[in-house]
Amino acid sequence: MGLQWGDEGKGKVVDVLTPNYKVIARFQGGPNAGHSLHFNGTSFVLHTVPSGIFRDGSVNVIGNGVVIDPVILADEIAQIEKTGVDVRSKLFISKKAHLILPTHRILDAASEAAKGGSKIGSTLKGIGPTYMDKTGRNGLRVGDILSPEFKERYERLKAKHADMLRQYNYEYDITEYEKEWFAGIEKLRQFPFIESEQVVNDYIDHDVAILAEGAQGSMLDIDFGTYPFVTSSNTLCAGVCTGLGVAPGRIGDVYGIFKAYCTRVGSGPFPTELFDQTGETLRQVGREFGATTGRPRRCGWLDLVALKYSVMMNGVSSLIMMKADVLNDFDTIKVAVAYKLNGEETTQFPYEINDGVEPVYKEFKGWKCNINDIRKYEDFPAEFKEYVEFIETTCGVPVRIISVGPDREETILR
Ligand code: GDP
Ligand code: IMO
Ligand code: MG
Repeated sequence: MGLQWGDEGKGKVVDVLTPNYKVIARFQGGPNAGHSLHFNGTSFVLHTVPSGIFRDGSVNVIGNGVVIDPVILADEIAQIEKTGVDVRSKLFISKKAHLILPTHRILDAASEAAKGGSKIGSTLKGIGPTYMDKTGRNGLRVGDILSPEFKERYERLKAKHADMLRQYNYEYDITEYEKEWFAGIEKLRQFPFIESEQVVNDYIDHDVAILAEGAQGSMLDIDFGTYPFVTSSNTLCAGVCTGLGVAPGRIGDVYGIFKAYCTRVGSGPFPTELFDQTGETLRQVGREFGATTGRPRRCGWLDLVALKYSVMMNGVSSLIMMKADVLNDFDTIKVAVAYKLNGEETTQFPYEINDGVEPVYKEFKGWKCNINDIRKYEDFPAEFKEYVEFIETTCGVPVRIISVGPDREETILR
């Protein structure tokens, strides 16, 4: 689970953990996600395909809670196939996953344009409109591709969207994208469409370990994130229950992933955001530019008020700290331990987050050395350990994995 505003490094963590898991499953979100993997000198960004795809013998499931753009998925599969991976034997798609239509993308753009200055800063992949059609009970699902009425149902939904777009007075042309979309549908037909809830529960019955790969982050959750500046799915651990069909009691360890600082792309509250040179340094050193949209990410100090809230909401049992190396050169490092709201201090994440809160910081002495080559926790400098141990004490959960670089190997297990 990503515990912040996305891009915590979930792709890397899943890739590192896959040797311990047979099945890797995505349960929510869609191509708004961009998960980066680095190994053997190469790098890859995955949007819809689970990050276990490069490991031999893995089973990769796209669950019912995911929304799929056939153009993006087909392209992603083609890119992976080029590396020699036999995707067809390793990728399984839920019949109940919803399809992102070309007009969903246009609706996303039209809705954002209409919002003007208060836009969400969506990735414009059609995520919101697709989930709206899902909850509005109008959506098309992967299983519908097999129906003889698929084209007719597609046209009906497209016509409904055209009506909506007339209201927006929004000009668009989907001729080219629509061609690619149907080509993508044909590509998807080569893959097994499954009842993923049955398959996943069957594996659990046989004690096969499953790794559910979150997308986005807790602070972008539709219910508990910084609404309305959120995505349209439940990004929390609870999303695994509905997005994969796993009963709450069958969920085991919950790995919560966070960066040693904070980033956010798109609009919305970000209490510890830095607008000065320090923020710029984090962006440059951390290469904080979106994996999906290329947009510069907003950067700031670690926010323990928000992190504690995420730990609580997910039931995190192990923390994983990413990008610790990005802080190597700082003289001092700050973390927000409380917010000031209407003159009062609180350590509870408030409903009024959109009204502006002032972070209360605790300052740490920087370690001022290169930690990228360290592979044992004991070898970290004292200042670094103090930082880690403060985070785990505050959150009440151990930090079990520390990442000091993008590569698989740059990982310390505690
Ligand atoms: P995700 O969406 O959560 O999978 O994260 P992204 O892939 O969007 O963004 C994380 C970025 O940080 C990617 O470019 C990773 O290669 C990179 N990254 C991951 N872990 C580390 C780390 O420990 N140190 C550094 N410097 N980069 C990292
Ligand atoms: P990963 O999985 C970071 C953000 C967008 C926008 C808001 C709504 O790579 O961590 P949407 O397109 O979902 O309607 O956009 O959510 N957002 C992400 N930010 N990482 C992501 O995914 C994101 N997915 C969506 O920037 O602010
Ligand atoms: Mg990302």
